[in-house]
Amino acid sequence: MPNTERIEPCLIVIFGASGDLTKRKLIPALFDLYRGKHLSPNFAVLGISRTEWSDDAFREHLKPWALKNREPDVAGEWDAFARQVYYHAADSTQSHAYPELTARIAALARKHNAGQSVLFYLSMAPQLYESTIEQIGAAHMVMEGKAWCSINRDKMPWQRIIVEKPFGHDPQSANQLNRVLGRVFEEENIYRIDHYLGKETVQNLLVFRFANTIFEPIWNRNYVDHVQVTAMETVGVEGRGGYYDSPSGGAMRDMIQSHLMQVMALVAMEPPVSMRADDIRNEKVKVFQAVRKPSVDHIAAYAIRGQYGRGSMEGQAVPAYREEQGVSPSSQTDTYAAIQLYVDTWRWGGVPFYLRSGKRMAKKMTEIVITFRPTPHCLFRETAAKLKPNQIIINVQPDEGIRLRFEGKVPGTRMDIRDVVMSFDYVSQFKGQPQEAYARMLLDAMRGDQTLFKHRDEVESSWNIVQPVLDAWADQPHDDLPNYAAGTWGPSASDVMMARDNRHWHNP
Ligand code: BG6
Repeated sequence: MPNTERIEPCLIVIFGASGDLTKRKLIPALFDLYRGKHLSPNFAVLGISRTEWSDDAFREHLKPWALKNREPDVAGEWDAFARQVYYHAADSTQSHAYPELTARIAALARKHNAGQSVLFYLSMAPQLYESTIEQIGAAHMVMEGKAWCSINRDKMPWQRIIVEKPFGHDPQSANQLNRVLGRVFEEENIYRIDHYLGKETVQNLLVFRFANTIFEPIWNRNYVDHVQVTAMETVGVEGRGGYYDSPSGGAMRDMIQSHLMQVMALVAMEPPVSMRADDIRNEKVKVFQAVRKPSVDHIAAYAIRGQYGRGSMEGQAVPAYREEQGVSPSSQTDTYAAIQLYVDTWRWGGVPFYLRSGKRMAKKMTEIVITFRPTPHCLFRETAAKLKPNQIIINVQPDEGIRLRFEGKVPGTRMDIRDVVMSFDYVSQFKGQPQEAYARMLLDAMRGDQTLFKHRDEVESSWNIVQPVLDAWADQPHDDLPNYAAGTWGPSASDVMMARDNRHWHNP
C-alpha cells in the first residue's frame, strides 16, 4: 500500500485483546501500517481484557504472530512498535473498571502526544458488546454532543468504534445492537466490519464494473444467465466449536448472511452517483431490499444445509463436525449452506443468484462466477451441443485474478470449437500479493472512510433475508446429518438443486 497520507494522532483501544483476532490479525495489521509509515508517530495501542498480563507479557504474546512469515530483520522495528503497545487488565462490562481505564487512556494519550481521538475495537465475545458500549458511553469517553456543537467539526477529536462480526444472530438482535450503538455513537462513527470488503479482489469489483466500458452493458438480465458466489474452506471449525455451534454459528449465519451477501450486493448494485461511502452503501441497501424473501416452498427446494462427517484432507483422516471440541454430538448446525436468491429489479428480474459456503471442502476457494446466456442463434450446428456458455470468473482468493471464458476455434481443417480462457492474475500484473484486509480496514477507520464498512440498514436487511431460512431449519431438524464427507464438494442435495435448474456448480 503506497503511503499517500499519514493519519492523525490517535489511540487504538482493543477490547478482547487476549483473543485470537488481536494476535492473528489486528496487531500484525497495525505493525504493517507502522512499517509502511501510515500511522502518525503519535499513536499508542491499548489492549484490554480480563487476563492478568503486564505490558511486556502482552508484547511477548503478540511478537511471534507479528513476526510470522516476515524477513528476519523486522525484529528491530517490532521492538520500536511494541514500545507503543500497552495492556490493561479489566472487565470492560463493569462500570467500576472505568475510572482506572479512562485514566490509563488519558495518561497514554499524554505520553505519546496522541490527542483525544480514539478508535475503539470490539473484538470480544459478542454477548459482551452491548454492556461494553453502554459503559463506554456512561464513562463519557465519547464526545459526540460537543462535536455537533463545535464551529468546525473537522477540527474536533473523534471517537470511532469498529464492531467485529457476528453483528447479531437474527434481525432482532442486530437491531438491538444497532440501537445500543446509536445511543452512544453517531452512525458516521460506527464501523461494522466485514473483512471481505477489505479484500483487494472484492474492492476490484467496483473498478471492474464501473471503470470499464465493456462489462457494464452486458451486466444484466438480457445477457446474464445466473450468478454464483462461492466461499469454500478446507478448514473445519479451528477450535471455535463453542462459537460455531452456538446460535450465532452455522454457515448460513457465519458466511452467507455476512460476507457472501456483501459480495452479492457489489455484483448486483446499480452504479452509485459517486464513490462516496454513503452513495455506495445506499446502492447496496437497495439490493438487499430488492431480494425476494424466500417462501416456505422456495426454502424447501432452494435452501440446502449440510454438515460434514469424517473424511480425509490431503491424505489425513479428519473427525466429523460432531466430534469437534465444543460441538454437541447431535448438533444440527450447518457447516455447509447454499441458497438460490432473486434480486427483483429491472436489471436482474429472473436471474438467479446462487450463494454457497462450506467448511472442510475439497479446496479453499472464494469466487464469483457470472455465466452468460447462449447466443440467440447458433451457427455451429454440429458442435452446438458442446458449446459452453461465456463466463467471467472472479477469483477472490487464492490465485487472485479474473478469467474470461469464451469459445475458440481449434486450429485445423475442421470447425472444432473449444472453450479458451483469457486471464488476469494479480501477482504477475501487480508484482506482489494483495494486501491483508485488516490493515486496509483499520486505516480507513482511522481516516474516517466508511466505504468498506456496513451501514446499519445493510446489516438488518441482510438478516431479514436469511431469517425465514433459519426459522424453517430450526423448525424442521434434518434427519440425515452429517450428509457430506470432509474433503468433498458438499451434500449431493446441492448438486441436485442446480441440476433441477439445468445448471451446475462451478467446481475446479
Ligand atoms: C470469518 C468466519 O468471518 O471468515 C470464519 O467467522 C471463516 O468461520 C472466515 O473461516 C473466512 O475468512 P477468509 O478470509 O479466510 O475467507
